[in-house]
Amino acid sequence: MAAKSKQVFVCQECGAVYAKWLGRCTACGAWNSVVEEFPAVAAAGAGHNAAVPQPIARVSMEKLERMPVGMAELELVLGGGLVPGSMTLLGGEPGIGKSTILLQLALAVSRSGGKTLYVSGEESAPQVRMRAERLGALADDLWLLAENDLDNILAQARKRDCRLLIIDSIQTVFLPELASAPGSVGQVRQCGNELLKLAKEQGIAVILVGHVTKDGNLAGPRVLEHMVDTVLYFEGDRLSNLRLLRASKNRFGSTNEIGVFEMTSGGLKALDDPSTVFLTHREKPVAGAAVGCVQQGARPVLLEIQALTSPTSFGNARRLASGLDHNRLHIIIAVLEKKVGLNLSSQDVYVNITGGLRVDDPAVDLAVAAAIASAYRERPLPADVVVLGEIGLTGELRPAGQMEQRLREAQRLDFGGVVAARQKDAAGTAAKLGMKLYQADNLQLALSFLGLI
Ligand code: TYD
Ligand code: MG
Repeated sequence: MAAKSKQVFVCQECGAVYAKWLGRCTACGAWNSVVEEFPAVAAAGAGHNAAVPQPIARVSMEKLERMPVGMAELELVLGGGLVPGSMTLLGGEPGIGKSTILLQLALAVSRSGGKTLYVSGEESAPQVRMRAERLGALADDLWLLAENDLDNILAQARKRDCRLLIIDSIQTVFLPELASAPGSVGQVRQCGNELLKLAKEQGIAVILVGHVTKDGNLAGPRVLEHMVDTVLYFEGDRLSNLRLLRASKNRFGSTNEIGVFEMTSGGLKALDDPSTVFLTHREKPVAGAAVGCVQQGARPVLLEIQALTSPTSFGNARRLASGLDHNRLHIIIAVLEKKVGLNLSSQDVYVNITGGLRVDDPAVDLAVAAAIASAYRERPLPADVVVLGEIGLTGELRPAGQMEQRLREAQRLDFGGVVAARQKDAAGTAAKLGMKLYQADNLQLALSFLGLI
């Protein structure tokens, strides 16, 4: 626990020190940058217990004994089970299911013998129990604490000798030594520091819930993101039951994997076949839809890109992308205009990736271009064709990585044809899988294969 020494207020921009809080730093003029701190914490680390360097080969490798978390989709995103002594931050909008997934995780960990302390700063213990009953049987080694005072939380976690500590949420706990309100920058940061110390000292895995603001950032300071080992985001379309879990930072695994879940009346259920989720099944093909394939970590995922074009009514044409980088959309539209001759400058263009997925695999470019061209021409694409390739500024197509995996996934889901960038060995793979492959060096040729020009 931090020493109860007198606190100071420090500007996070320039380091100026004040005796009381100020809305604006008088030294550098920054607004809202002055934050409460313990002088003792700022000075800690120097002097006693100083570390000495070691040759790298002599550093002992502790084997990371990970705690199983009971859900394969969750382990996929974490890169395995939970690492003792690690700190994880789970962000997401209110109501998306953060408390639900963590309670499910807590039940699984405690059932496999890892004593768990679930601290709820937002809900009462009976509320949490009711939810736990809804999610399945209770577990003996799961302890609940409805508390906001972090001093007591830390003391209880030490006393109960737990292996996993969940704080729901970091914005609702506070250190009474600090005068600032729960959820303020100073509180969140200091609480994070204390919890990190507890995790490292006791080898406890700590998970923090963090609310996100409207613009998608974690509320409170970004500083938490630097402090923790893993940052997970839980997201999804409010209107559908689909939920996606992704890591934006992971010291113990990759950040490319996504976990796909469905919110049901009995809690979150993992959907281990994501490709079937992001495709729309239709009787008849419609204009403005194209199927692409993105590589999410180790898994290829098929998805549908939808586009709509409509004549611009005033002035500048609108370009809206959801699930896709906005700049990428602008480039693809520019190439469609210049190299293919589509007159899109007088058209508003909207592009959407179904299922709330966010895509940064460039191999989806060609599918985006095909969906836009299909919408503009009001001509549907053939129903059983997957479109794959990155588009260069000169209109050339570049091959997608892991072509064989993507083709296999397409074939598994009954797609008989592929339009893709020219690539060595692709023809052999397609032939082996019994798929028709149309290879193109440039966007124009690819779109003519699809019947769009
Ligand atoms: P919750 O986990 O409380 O969200 P967060 O902690 O991110 O704010 O989830 C709340 C929503 O989930 C709520 O609208 C009800 C729904 N829900 C289910 O559909 N099924 C369930 O089994 C549970 C526990 C919640
Ligand atoms: Mg909650």
